[in-house]
Amino acid sequence: MLLRIVLYGDPVLETVCEPVNEDEFGKPQLRRLVSDMFETMYDAEGVGLAAPQVGLLKRLTVIDCSGPDTRSEPQVLINPEIVSSDGEQVGTEGCLSIPGFTGKVTRPATVRARFRRVDGSHGEVEATGLLARAICHENDHLNGVLFLSHLGTLKRGLIKKKIRNLARQGEWS
Ligand code: NI
Repeated sequence: MLLRIVLYGDPVLETVCEPVNEDEFGKPQLRRLVSDMFETMYDAEGVGLAAPQVGLLKRLTVIDCSGPDTRSEPQVLINPEIVSSDGEQVGTEGCLSIPGFTGKVTRPATVRARFRRVDGSHGEVEATGLLARAICHENDHLNGVLFLSHLGTLKRGLIKKKIRNLARQGEWS
């Protein structure tokens, strides 16, 4: 089932999310949510989607850097924690909640993250390149942080102004 993607301006995107509870792991509701989030992400041609982007304040994200065409590397990160990071990479980021806008963001070159899977089992991943970037971007969402926060004041101000204008014209929904 396709879920509605929340757009910038909705306070849910700037709220810190709650961990997924122990009793939710392995349950059909959690599996359904993850499946719906993948479907929604692929449909929107994104490489990552976090639960707050579909209006849920849960620490859960789905990522597939091979997407949207290949869909060969689906990853679910529940209650993720970035345990270490190293180096630096600069690259262009966008966000399904801020469609039509991108900006250059500096992220770690490598990150190591621990997470839980849908069945509750523990996982760990060491990521570089686009996956490292995606993990940082999605993990930020769980803390109510958008990529706009990583841009310079001028660039961020310009994007916010354009979004305000779009909203005024009824073209931001
Ligand atoms: Ni995003």
